Amino acid sequence: MSALLEVEAATKVFGGVRALDGCAIEVAEGGVTGLIGPNGSGKTTLFNLVTGYLKPDGGRFRFAGQDVTHADAGKLYRKGLTRTFQQARVFPHLTVVENMVVAGGYSWRQLLTARVAKADRARACELLAEFRLSHVADLLASELSYGQRKLLEFAAVLMSSPRLVLLDEPTAGVNPVLIETMERHIRDRNAAGVTFLVVEHDMGFVMRLCDPVIVLDRGARIFTGSPADAQRDPRVVDAYLGD
Ligand SMILES: Nc1ncnc2c1ncn2[C@@H]1O[C@H](COP(=O)(O)OP(=O)(O)O)[C@@H](O)[C@H]1O
Ligand SMILES: [Mg+2]
Repeated sequence: MSALLEVEAATKVFGGVRALDGCAIEVAEGGVTGLIGPNGSGKTTLFNLVTGYLKPDGGRFRFAGQDVTHADAGKLYRKGLTRTFQQARVFPHLTVVENMVVAGGYSWRQLLTARVAKADRARACELLAEFRLSHVADLLASELSYGQRKLLEFAAVLMSSPRLVLLDEPTAGVNPVLIETMERHIRDRNAAGVTFLVVEHDMGFVMRLCDPVIVLDRGARIFTGSPADAQRDPRVVDAYLGD
């Protein structure tokens, strides 16, 4: 399998903090890759650089064989690289179905004037049905539970027909039933050809779903390999898994 995403020597400094320090990772096309590491090891910062939400202080980024080091978030989104946020980001004052339609590339003005193609509305409704959110389609996103908001954010990301989805702690604060649902959706979409890179602290979830696993510590990669090998690797145990 070829690498869909290649990151070389990514560096990001905030004041005196080197959040990322020459970090290199590769994400193979077609897989579910896990990204783990202690709090503050740079996982979210790496997502922010890869998706164009923050500018790197150094490093090179390639997506689908193209150099995207200087691409902004909108451009990457249109190329098929998208992400969710550690704190789910949805538009609270739009309804659930409107959130989906906006994620599909429509402006608020088009929403207001109802100039949304039937096909796109239908696709939004289909995805909501798949995510069992049809019954809340006309509620404001602000009326959803925390877990439902995370599901909505995930469903909305799929409106753009992405090739690579970065999920930042998809199960944090989510109840066990929704965790299972989330896991099923990742598997289904992966089987349909979508590649995932997932930051997650729940090691059970990582062991079941992710291979390979990349481990970050202090802004750099310290391990890449199977989840079973990660659990046996002394550096990984020292940095993250042992207490
Ligand atoms: N916007 C920011 N401003 C200042 N420091 C930041 C910012 N974002 C992250 N950091 C710092 O960078 C380091 C890595 O953070 P982060 O990427 O959020 O780690 P993780 O997601 O692995 O927990 C931490 O020390 C954090 O405090
Ligand atoms: Mg984080």
